[in-house]
Amino acid sequence: MNSKVSVAILGASGWMGKTHTMAYQSFPHFFGTSEGVASVDMLVTDDLSDQETLAQNAPGARIVADWKQAVEDPSIDLVDICLPDHLHYPVAKAALLAGKHVFCEKPLADTAAEARELADIAAQKGVVTRVGHAFPRNPVHHMAKEMIQAGEIGEIKLFKACQHIDMYGDPLVPYMWRANGDLAPTGIIGDTGSHVFSFMEFLVGPVKRLIADNFVVTPKRPVVDGLGFGEVPKLTGGEDWADITNPDGSNVMCQFANGARGLVDFSRVATGRKFMQSYEVYGTKGSLVYTYDEVNRLRFYSNEDAVGRRGFREIDVGPENETYKAFLPLPNFALGYNESKIIEAYEVIKSVATKTPMWPTFETGHHICQIVDACMTSSNEERWVDIPQSN
Ligand SMILES: NC(=O)c1ccc[n+]([C@@H]2O[C@H](COP(=O)([O-])OP(=O)(O)OC[C@H]3O[C@@H](n4cnc5c(N)ncnc54)[C@H](O)[C@@H]3O)[C@@H](O)[C@H]2O)c1
Repeated sequence: MNSKVSVAILGASGWMGKTHTMAYQSFPHFFGTSEGVASVDMLVTDDLSDQETLAQNAPGARIVADWKQAVEDPSIDLVDICLPDHLHYPVAKAALLAGKHVFCEKPLADTAAEARELADIAAQKGVVTRVGHAFPRNPVHHMAKEMIQAGEIGEIKLFKACQHIDMYGDPLVPYMWRANGDLAPTGIIGDTGSHVFSFMEFLVGPVKRLIADNFVVTPKRPVVDGLGFGEVPKLTGGEDWADITNPDGSNVMCQFANGARGLVDFSRVATGRKFMQSYEVYGTKGSLVYTYDEVNRLRFYSNEDAVGRRGFREIDVGPENETYKAFLPLPNFALGYNESKIIEAYEVIKSVATKTPMWPTFETGHHICQIVDACMTSSNEERWVDIPQSN
């Protein structure tokens, strides 16, 4: 394959659509072009009022309204899906069947069965796949993984994590597609839980069984168009009120295949928590602690330190890490969310150009959808749920 990868971005006017467009254009500044470049040739949006901005963001790209045009166009190599959740499965399936490489935002699908089908079609077609779990691509998490693999914290016994936002902390914040069980069937479980689960997969390994308590805090919200995340409208009294038909949050207890125990919680209703993400990994020889508030820093405790001198030490990932160094020559200048998406775009294009899959592929997406499925079943049926182990 030519090292220039022709990309179609579906859902181009949305948050992720714009972020992915930026990321494809930005990564050569940091990683060069020798492992492939992206040519953003098609933008798909159902919001054609945004055409002028889109044309500026990706000069020369065709702007179309129907995602099928991307799937059917023989010149497109990579279909990049930034659409609302319920469209991931049908669009990814059509793209895979057409022989396209597919990069799909999380959650990969609404059910594990759909995700399995996508991973199987991708394997049959021999195409490259990727799911948009970009948080673990921050180099600080590679440092954590390297330390775990090198045995620095011993055998992992306990994993704790959370991710909370306050998008729906105020009961008057309007209804949006994320709260609609038809458009986002798993709600916060697939939306935010899947990010926590991606850290579990990356750092600890597969989950064997779990029990979850999913909850809805505010059962109805006003319908008011045009507001952003967490914005509270001035209500006129004439609004329609829509039912919230998917979970606002969940508390989950789990057991990993390697015997470790997990305790995680996540929600969109944690008033005051603009973005709270953290994990703690406790092993037999030491522990690692991370919080997004210090986005490039790990806290490491080691039993090998002298008694009387033990305590958590702070380690900032810096330019000794090649990925960090691609952006910044000095430590503690902070790589953040958009850099993670730039790293992701670089890896996606490299994967397609060299036909080398990189984590997280649709196989990983399937594992994560299995955890999401298990949370839904467990909470609905109020019981522990076993997760079938696969490759
Ligand atoms: N990886 C991450 O950190 C991350 C962050 C945010 C969102 N996401 C995921 O990305 C996806 C998109 O989320 P978002 O925040 O960008 O949402 P968004 O609402 O900002 O954007 C979605 C876009 O899709 C467009 N759209 C909807 N139906 C369409 C159709 N049939 N054809 C063409 N365009 C259509 C909408 O007009 C909108 O512009 C979701 O699945 C979400 O879970 C991932």
